[in-house]
This record gives sequence, structure tokens and C-alpha cells, in this order.
Amino acid sequence: MLYTQPPAVEVYSGDPFSSPCRAIVVPIAQDEGGRPRPELDREGRLAESISLELFKGDVGNLLEVTFEGKVVIYAGVGKGELEQVRRGAAAGTKKGGDKGDCLYLHLSHLSREAASEALLASLLASYKLDHFRSSRESKVKKILVGREDLDLKKISSIAEGVYLARDVANVPPHELPPARLAEKVTELFKGVAEVEVFDFQRLLREGFGGIVNVGMGSEEKPVLIVARYRGAEGRPVALVGKTVVFDSGGINLKPSDSIVYMRSDKAGGAAVLGIIWSAARMGLRLNLVGLVPAVINVPSGTSYLPSDVIRMWDGTRVEINNTDAEGRLIIGDAIAYAAKALEAEEIIDLATLTGAIVVALGPLMAGLFTRDARLREALLSSSARTGEKLWHMPLEDDYRPWLTKNALLGDVANSAPSRAGAAIYAALFLERFAHGKPYAHLDIAGPGMAYEASGIAPAYWPDKNLAPGYGVRLILDYLMSRG
Ligand code: BES
Ligand code: ZN
Ligand code: ZN
Repeated sequence: MLYTQPPAVEVYSGDPFSSPCRAIVVPIAQDEGGRPRPELDREGRLAESISLELFKGDVGNLLEVTFEGKVVIYAGVGKGELEQVRRGAAAGTKKGGDKGDCLYLHLSHLSREAASEALLASLLASYKLDHFRSSRESKVKKILVGREDLDLKKISSIAEGVYLARDVANVPPHELPPARLAEKVTELFKGVAEVEVFDFQRLLREGFGGIVNVGMGSEEKPVLIVARYRGAEGRPVALVGKTVVFDSGGINLKPSDSIVYMRSDKAGGAAVLGIIWSAARMGLRLNLVGLVPAVINVPSGTSYLPSDVIRMWDGTRVEINNTDAEGRLIIGDAIAYAAKALEAEEIIDLATLTGAIVVALGPLMAGLFTRDARLREALLSSSARTGEKLWHMPLEDDYRPWLTKNALLGDVANSAPSRAGAAIYAALFLERFAHGKPYAHLDIAGPGMAYEASGIAPAYWPDKNLAPGYGVRLILDYLMSRG
């Protein structure tokens, strides 16, 4: 993997108390009456805590008991719904992770589905990015599970994709400028998926005006990474991910308060890379292509300028009235390329596109913009299943006149005339580039960056406001329901 790797998972069929791990995590659900159901309770200490009402089994409730040299962590999972199980198991894992690098996860009393989700959440909760510190943090390296019917390959593959997405979204900008990101991805994907990199010269030659213009202000020139996984014949499903390695706003420079978050303006592309990785490792029977346009948006003598009119890959002339509305330019090119050159069957983009969607939906939910009823229903049910929150937003036709309102010279302007409806404006702008193909746009500016999510994020997200790899589990679930 790039910087981090999920813990290895092994089946351990002996007595949990004789496993080599010091910490044992036990998810505990409540019965119909709301009382926790004891499980793996050797000396009755759990039952005692329950009767004294010291442990209620609510989600996030933890009870730690030391027994025979082991630390048993009972983790409440409420009624045992999947999201509750994920959160409870994750909370238990974070506590258990302090006790050593090995964790025994007790799952025998759960349904297969709940056990799978508990394990996945435990893997996700073990994520730590310490590559940029001068000393290593303690980490869980191995998780043992006491049952044999789980699809460990699938669960680990999903965790790997999320880890990859988190790594890419969180690394500091100068660690992975566009060309270096492309190199690293090429290296990593060897034997897993095919990677083709369009360098700056090729982007210029082939008329990718959106990517070229946004990226040319930096010494580190832009690239388009194309990652293909052919698990089936036929036309591909295209996944497009906004990958702004750093978004300073460009000549329309952002204010200082929240600019550090813009290291994660690559969360969309990060998710696409994670999805392709996991899909390939799982061997999904689908033809997938990931399009990852990577740029750095900074002001300089070679930057694109407000009032420039640029020519996009599909010929659309876009008038730049704000260089900070850059994401739609780079993914507009990639979406059009997917629609026309790759003849994709359908196109889904993930993009940390607008501050407006964060104002509307907050840091935990993404906005879904699509006119396609099948995509809408399928993506919303994947959202419900995975707990990656998605809210359907309107592509309101009566706002379409805004697209041309500020275009004095070009066909359309890149930025809305005011802050009103700015996320809808961006979605209407992007839709043009799909050229009538089934298309869904996910504005993930909130959960992609975990913008202001500290204190309310689920326990399986990383601590400290790091990007959670939003979208990987959601889109994989969608793809699995499709394939
Ligand atoms: N990357 C930002 C979107 C963003 C802003 C994400 C705040 C998370 C928090 C995007 O490129 C941007 O700057 N959008 C502008 C668009 C505006 C200039 C039309 C915005 O939303 O303010
Ligand atoms: Zn911007
Ligand atoms: Zn941006």
C-alpha cells in the first residue's frame, strides 16, 4: 500500500483466552427490553456491571475487565443494527488498540453480516498515519477472529481501498505532487490494475483545457491518471475523482482560516483509486475505469486568470470568473472524455466541489445529484447499507440560466453569480459534460475532508479530523449490487 496497511486478519479457532492477543473486544447488543445480553463473561463481571447499571450496552459504551492476564473490552452496540455494530466495534477497537499490536475480536454470537461489518469497522478504526512523525505510534497489526464463515479476502480488500483513499486524501501536498502521485499509483497497481498516465504535454496536445489551465500555475504540472480494471467485457463504468493536490484558490486566493483543509481537496480522486484497488482485489465482474485528474491550484505568473476563456476537452468555452471554482474544470474534462472517448456506460464522479454543500448538509453527508432514477435509488440504498451518508439534491432546470449569465465572452461561466444555490450550479455545470450518459455527481466536500467533523464523526473514522476515505465503501457496495 502507499503509507499504511490494514491489520492482517486471521482465524483463531481456540479459546479466546488462550489466543496470543492481550486485548479481547466483545460487541454486546441489547435485548428487546434494552438490557445488554452478556457474552464471553467468564467470572460474571459483565453480568454484575449490567445489574449495577454500570454498563448499559449503548453504542460507544465500553466496559473494560481484566481477567487471566487478558483485557476484555465489552463494547455496546445498542440494538445491533449494522451501523451500531460498526460504531461499537470501532470504539472497542480504539480502546483495545492501546493494549498491544494484536486484537482478538469475538464475533461468534453475531449474524454473519453483523460480524463482517464489525470486522471491517475494526480494521478501519485501526488506521493511523504516522509516516510524517519522527517516531512511530503503537498500532494494531493483527486481528484474530473466532469464526470461519467470513469472507476475509473481501473484507480486507475493502479495508485496503479505504486505507489507500485515506492515505492519498491526507498526505501533505508536496509529498505527492501530481506526477509523483501518478508514479506511486503506477507502481502500486502493478499486477492489480492497468495504469496509464497522460502527462502535461499529452494533455496540451489532446486539448484537456480544464486540466491544463487549472494546473499550469504550479511548477508541478498536472497529469491525468487513468486506471483500468477489466473484470468483464462491455463498456466501462467510469469513476471520476477530483484530485486537487492543494487548492489555494489560485489568483482568487482563499482566506487563511480553512485553507489547510485543502490538502484533502484530492479526496474524490483518492476514493476512486481506493475503489479501483478494492474492486480489482475482490475480482468484481465489472469493467471499470477510474479517471483521476491531478493538479495543484496556486497563484503564480503562469496561472490561469479570472476573465480568461478556456477551451475544454469537448470544445465548450468556459469563462473563468473565479479561479477557485477549479474542480468542475478538471473533472469536466474527465467526464467528457469518459462519455465520448471511452464511451462509458455510466459515469459517477466524486468531488470535494463546493463549500455550499457543506453549508447545506454539514460535514457528515454528501450531496447526490442525478437525473437517473436507477442510479439514485441504487446509490441511496448503498448509502443506507454502508452508513456513508448521502442526500439527494436537485438539478433544478430553472437555475440553468445562471450558467450563461456571467459569461460575457464564453459559452458558460465557471462560477455562480452569487452564493445562492452554488452546489446546484456546480452540478448543472458538470452535467453538460456527461453528454446525456447516465450520470451521478457526488459532492463530497463535507465527508471527503471531514471538514469540522471532530467530535461527531463515527468511531471508525480516523481521529483528528483526518479524511475518512468517504465513498469507497458506498461505491463498492453500489458496484457489487450492480455486478
Ligand atoms: N475545494 C473547494 C470546495 C470546498 C470549500 C470544500 C470549502 C470544502 C470546504 C472548491 O474548489 C471551491 O473553492 N469552491 C468554491 C466555489 C466558488 C468559488 C464558486 C466555494 O465553494 O466556495
Ligand atoms: Zn477551489
Ligand atoms: Zn477545490
